[in-house]
Amino acid sequence: MKSGELKMSWARQYMPVLGEIRKRFEAEKPFKGNRIGMALHVEAKTAVLVETLAAGGAEVYITGCNPLSTQDDVAEALNDVPGVKCYAKRACSVEEYYDAIDKVLDVRPTVTIDDGMDLIHRLHTERRELLDGIIGGCEETTTGIHRLRAMAAEGKLEFPVIAVNDTPMKRFFDNVHGTGESALSSVMITTNTLIGGKWFVVAGYGYCGRGLAKMAHGLGAKVIVTEIDPRRALEAHMDGYFVMTMEEAAKIGDIFVTTTGNTSIITEKHFRVMKDGAILSNAGHFNVEIDLEWLHANKEGYEARDSIETFIVNGKKINVLAEGRLVNLATTKGMGHPIEVMDLSFALQALCSEYILKEGAGLKGDVYDVPNGIDVEVASLKLGSLGINIDALTEEQNLYMNSWDIGT
Ligand code: NAI
Repeated sequence: MKSGELKMSWARQYMPVLGEIRKRFEAEKPFKGNRIGMALHVEAKTAVLVETLAAGGAEVYITGCNPLSTQDDVAEALNDVPGVKCYAKRACSVEEYYDAIDKVLDVRPTVTIDDGMDLIHRLHTERRELLDGIIGGCEETTTGIHRLRAMAAEGKLEFPVIAVNDTPMKRFFDNVHGTGESALSSVMITTNTLIGGKWFVVAGYGYCGRGLAKMAHGLGAKVIVTEIDPRRALEAHMDGYFVMTMEEAAKIGDIFVTTTGNTSIITEKHFRVMKDGAILSNAGHFNVEIDLEWLHANKEGYEARDSIETFIVNGKKINVLAEGRLVNLATTKGMGHPIEVMDLSFALQALCSEYILKEGAGLKGDVYDVPNGIDVEVASLKLGSLGINIDALTEEQNLYMNSWDIGT
């Protein structure tokens, strides 16, 4: 077997939920006659989603959603799957990146699956002539949902999109456990440095941030959280972490990971006060959280190690991982979220794609929640695969929970 196929077969064995869904899709062919256009991180777990959709009768056209997250051997293996065409290439230029997005759109997809909203953005700007043919879409990540909600608020979103990111079965597992484990392991394997005893700065105590903080704390780090939301800052404080501004944290931190989904979190004024050997990385969707533009414009960097660029600021070494892009995916050793986590997220994508294809024509252009039934189904399938049984409400309990006049 070639390396891409081997990676897919490795992933498949830890994706029992998608495996169950695939069996039903193979029998029912819910996507027959449809073209699904995708822009996701092209690696082995995504490839298992792609083959699941293809098994359900779809023609699938896929490219990457980040220039550094594609694994070329997996892209090659996907092109051997019947009904699939993959255009992604690692380390492509911006021009090549958008060219590949256009190739996916050229096939006139009926359903889109995005991670970061690049397909949908292109459809609503440069490729508006294709909008009529789209029944609906699904979005994978927080940043994509922010952009979609902003579009919908201005009345500019022209087809229904399901906010896969926002459903409990995604956020509570993918963002928390997935980002927590994978960003941390990527920092460790890329730098070969110790976490225990270090000042570990997490910018943003959202779903991703809290996962990272917990894992770093578990390895013995002294965790500092920076926030702009007082409630989340207080939560971090009561969860046992140090809370302070980035200006304060910049002087203390040994390792920094940004997870805000916002821009300009670590900038010149922070670089200037950092300790010698500070390690900087980003786990938020776009590469705008660390001000690489300033570093590149003002300092000459050199490649200190694979996926690490070092800049000298005020005589001190500042080490930036993966060009400030998603550290869990964009370092050469980053493998993205653990497989079991993506089994849940991609099971949601598979079932939501089926749902939007069936129901999308009756929905207006807006952002929609994942139907509760789908969220519960994914949890139940996962529990089933683990052999875990849970209780069911009795009739008496059901009545009790739904009544207002039962007291003591
Ligand atoms: P979230 O909305 O739950 O958390 C973001 C947090 O950052 C919020 O608590 C917010 O108050 C805080 N924040 C915003 N501006 C800030 C600032 N200037 N300083 C400090 N804190 C600030 O979002 P979530 O789900 O944690 O996602 C965060 C980012 O990670 C998004 O860009 C998302 O797309 C991305 N993501 C990345 C993954 C990966 O594989 N690396 C996986 C899932 C999401």
